[in-house]
Amino acid sequence: MAILLNIQSSPRGADSLSRILSQEFVSEWKQNHGDGTVVLRDLAETQLPFISAPWIGGIFLPAEQRSTAQQDAIKVSDELIAELFAADHILIGTPMYNFTVPANLKAWIDMVVRPKVTHSGPPERRGLVTGKRCTIIIASGGVYDEGLPAAASDYESGYLKRILGFIGITEVEVVMAGGTAAAAFGATTMEELAGQFRPAVLAAAQ
Ligand SMILES: Cc1cc2nc3c(=O)[nH]c(=O)nc-3n(C[C@H](O)[C@H](O)[C@H](O)COP(=O)(O)O)c2cc1C
Repeated sequence: MAILLNIQSSPRGADSLSRILSQEFVSEWKQNHGDGTVVLRDLAETQLPFISAPWIGGIFLPAEQRSTAQQDAIKVSDELIAELFAADHILIGTPMYNFTVPANLKAWIDMVVRPKVTHSGPPERRGLVTGKRCTIIIASGGVYDEGLPAAASDYESGYLKRILGFIGITEVEVVMAGGTAAAAFGATTMEELAGQFRPAVLAAAQ
């Protein structure tokens, strides 16, 4: 049975283009995987912790040698990593904030990138989360498509591909859903924009 891990980070609801497109992806994915399961990890609903001293101290110790504070700090990391390993396909729906990932998505990344668990560390330096597909939908006010001058300011898509590749997730497709500023100024609508990106989103859900 296929499992889709649906990670959402926009704090917006019905007005969020990354959520609108992600919902369309999920519906299409469900149609294509009749008996599949969708696991939602909504980063806007809960506040993940940041990396702390107990987390750093604890991850290099065998679980049974960790202090209570270290165990507490690592618990959520273990939970998020288990979700990642269980998934066949990972969907990340996210805004672009200040040219890169929102803080809640960075907090998720910090919890799942773990030496000896999701990457081997030296000397092999191998990613350990292998055999997954990943689709990333990035909504942005501006347009950062390849070839445009603004593409040089996109510190999000390349970063996400790099960090996911670092933990072994190399089959990654990115849909750059740019241009929501035009909707905010009334020059287009979210529905029109969603229509523009729908074919790429539905194709990624095959
Ligand atoms: C705090 C903040 C920072 C933003 N930074 C950028 C940015 O650097 N580049 C950009 O093109 N749009 C930026 N935007 C616009 C959002 O990327 C845009 O509204 C996008 O549609 C948000 O995703 P959502 O529709 O899924 O909520 C920013 C918006 C906010 C609220």
